[in-house]
Amino acid sequence: MTKSLAAGHARGKNESDNIFAINAAAKAKAQLVGEKNIVNASIGALLDDKGELITLPTVEKTIHSLDFKDTANYAPIAGLPDFIEAAIDVVFGQYKPDAYIQGVATPGGSGAIHHAIWNYTEPGDTFLTSDWFWGPYKTMAREMGRKMDTFVTFNEKGCFNIKACLEKVRELAKTQKNVLLIINSPAHNPTGYSLTDEEWEKLVEGLKQLAEKGINNIILFVDIAYIDFAPPGSRKFFKLFSNLPAAFLVIIGFSMSKGYTMYGYRTGCMLGISSDEDIAQEFYDINQYSNRGTWSNGTRAGMLCLAKLLKDPKLMEQVFKEREEYRISLDNRAKTFLAEAKRVGLEVCPYHSGFFITVPSTRAEEIALKLQDDNIFVVPIGRGLRIAVCAVGEEKIVGMAAKIKEAKDLLGG
Ligand SMILES: Cc1ncc(COP(=O)(O)O)c(C=O)c1O
Repeated sequence: MTKSLAAGHARGKNESDNIFAINAAAKAKAQLVGEKNIVNASIGALLDDKGELITLPTVEKTIHSLDFKDTANYAPIAGLPDFIEAAIDVVFGQYKPDAYIQGVATPGGSGAIHHAIWNYTEPGDTFLTSDWFWGPYKTMAREMGRKMDTFVTFNEKGCFNIKACLEKVRELAKTQKNVLLIINSPAHNPTGYSLTDEEWEKLVEGLKQLAEKGINNIILFVDIAYIDFAPPGSRKFFKLFSNLPAAFLVIIGFSMSKGYTMYGYRTGCMLGISSDEDIAQEFYDINQYSNRGTWSNGTRAGMLCLAKLLKDPKLMEQVFKEREEYRISLDNRAKTFLAEAKRVGLEVCPYHSGFFITVPSTRAEEIALKLQDDNIFVVPIGRGLRIAVCAVGEEKIVGMAAKIKEAKDLLGG
């Protein structure tokens, strides 16, 4: 056994940063064959044609207009009230649910997911998500002594598998009082799927029925990290969270990382939605307590930025305009990839919008390595290849699907 001073629960914790390693391999290869010949679809951030981070000019200007003394100060533990108000505004738009809504600032959406798992499941409990999922959900489960279980994401028609989801929820409800379900939509990572309004209706209805039995507490966490890259009209489902049973709490994980290109500013919040004032108050109390008990407070500069943007409709309008341009450009990249995939017969997971497209494969590791011979760098994620269309300019997207199909045919899987 290797030496260890770590406490029992911490022993063996280690996760190599796959994406970092693949990105490093792409950079090394670029030294040999030239940057222009490399297709680096590994990075989960929106990059321009030159591979540089895209930032929204109005966000940059607004951040830089803040007074340093103000940004350098501590933020209140639960977040600046103006920020929470602004977050409620930008998250829901015209679809604010008819309910008590409380907000607590967190370091990005990750902080919100952390607190939801920590405060709404018991030690050793299981929480649920779809079987295509963002890896850190599982890391967080391990980190907090929880388990994660999954349901089959898609049905045979390539739609969200409501049946499998609700079955899994009902099964878990037999053994646990609190059932936490994490749904990442719209623009799911890694598939790009978005639940339709009809699917949302059915899902909420099924969860409502379970909550009404009076045995379980249902906590639905909606991870909206990529919502600003979903087409306009993607917020209607929020209205479904109106007048839910008291035992049904919805938590929205809001992140400024992608939508405001503020990845490193670590700004976001969790919004608790309940028909019961006490439950909403409890949500505020326990999560702000967890802020104090973990990272203290969030990044004041990020919070001030959103509050300032919201106070000036002209600024916000500019942000929307700038972002829309990039959203359309991302959409075009995805369309180019998908059209080629269709033409060459490459199977992909159902995609609507967002940063990634996924190619299912049982030999993802080998195929990803083989693609590196063709100067294409993608991330194997166990059951498939994650193609970060967000990181590749339109020109370099052309030809990718054909090469992936070729590698798949050669290696099988
Ligand atoms: C699905 C999903 N949820 C949440 C996050 C959280 O991001 P952040 O903590 O930067 O807000 C990410 C970031 O990659 C993500 O992909």
